Amino acid sequence: MPITPATVAAIAEAAAFLRAGSLVAFPTETVYGLGGDATDDRAVAAIFAAKGRPAFNPLIVHGPDRDAFGAAVIMDDRAARLAERFWPGPLTMVLPRRAESAVSLLASAGLDSIAVRVPAHPVALALLQAAGRLVAAPSANPSGRISPTTARHVADGLDGKLAMILDGGACRVGVESTVIDLSSRTPTLLRPGGVTLEALRDILGTVAIAGAGQSGGPRSPGMLASHYAPALPVRLNATAAEPAEALLAFGPAEGATLNLSADENLAEAAANLFSMLRSLDRPDYRGIAVMPIPEDGLGLAINDRLRRAAAPRGV
Ligand code: TXA
Ligand code: MG
Repeated sequence: MPITPATVAAIAEAAAFLRAGSLVAFPTETVYGLGGDATDDRAVAAIFAAKGRPAFNPLIVHGPDRDAFGAAVIMDDRAARLAERFWPGPLTMVLPRRAESAVSLLASAGLDSIAVRVPAHPVALALLQAAGRLVAAPSANPSGRISPTTARHVADGLDGKLAMILDGGACRVGVESTVIDLSSRTPTLLRPGGVTLEALRDILGTVAIAGAGQSGGPRSPGMLASHYAPALPVRLNATAAEPAEALLAFGPAEGATLNLSADENLAEAAANLFSMLRSLDRPDYRGIAVMPIPEDGLGLAINDRLRRAAAPRGV
C-alpha cells in the first residue's frame, strides 16, 4: 500500500498518540503490532492490559534503524552482521540490555536482555521515525488468540482499547518475526518465523534451537505450548475432513474448505495462515483439520504456530 497524503496525516497523528503514552496499532510486514512508548512503563503496562497478556511475556522493541538501539542494547559483531543482512525485516534479536537503557523493565519482563527489531514496512518505519522513540509492540491480538494480519482483525479483537489503528493493508509475511537469542555465546533460535533457520546459519554458522536438548523452562515465554488458539479444536496432518470439520488444505486437495497454497508455496501459506484459521474458526464447524505442511524453510514457523493452535488448551 503506497503512502498517500492521508496516510502521512494518519502517521503523524499516531506518532503524537505514542508520544503522549497512548496505544496505537500499526502494520508491519509480519503481523500488526500493538504499539506503545517502550520507555514509558505506563504505556507498556497498558499494552499488557489491552492484550490480557500474562505479564511475564517480554515484548519486542521496535526502532526505525539499527542506530536507534545504540543506547538500549549491546550489539556485538554477530548482531551487526545479522542487522546488515536482515534489517529492516522479520528478525528479532535478543541482546544484552545496557545498564543505562531507558527501555522500561516491564517491556522486557525484568530480564537483563531486550528483544529488538526494525520492521520492513513503510508505514511502520515512518511511524517509528515520526514518534522519535522506541516502540514496544507485541502482536495486536488479545493474548492467546490468532495474530492479526489486517486492520480489520485488530479492530475485531481490540476495539475500544486503542487510541488508533493505522491501516497499512494486509501483512506480506503473515507470521511473526524469527526471534534469535544473542545474549549468550551460542546463538539460540527462540521462535521460528519470517527469516529461516537456514538463512541464519548461513551468517552465524551454529545456531541452537531452544528446547532441543536444553533443561529448564522455555527461554522465550512466547514458546509456551497453547499460544495461538482458535476456539475450535485443530487436528494436524489430516488427509481429509471428518464430517462437520473444515479442511484447511495445502497443495492440490479435494474438498478443501480453504487452501493455504494450492501450489505448495510456503510463503503464500504463511501469509494466509492466520486469516484462514480465523475465518474457519466459527460454530458452523466442529473442528479444523489441517493438511501436513513440509517441515523446512517457512514451514517450520507455520508448523510451530499450528502445533500451538492444536495443543491441549489451558496449559
Ligand atoms: O513479528 C513480530 O515479531 C511481531 C510484530 C508486531 O513485530 N511482534 C510480536 O511480538 O510477535 P510478541 O510480543 O507477540 O512476541 C514477542 C516474542 C515472544 O516470543 C517473547 O517471549 C520474545 O519475543 N521475547 C521478547 N523479549 C524477549 C527477551 N528479552 N528474551 C527472550 N525472549 C523475548
Ligand atoms: Mg503474539
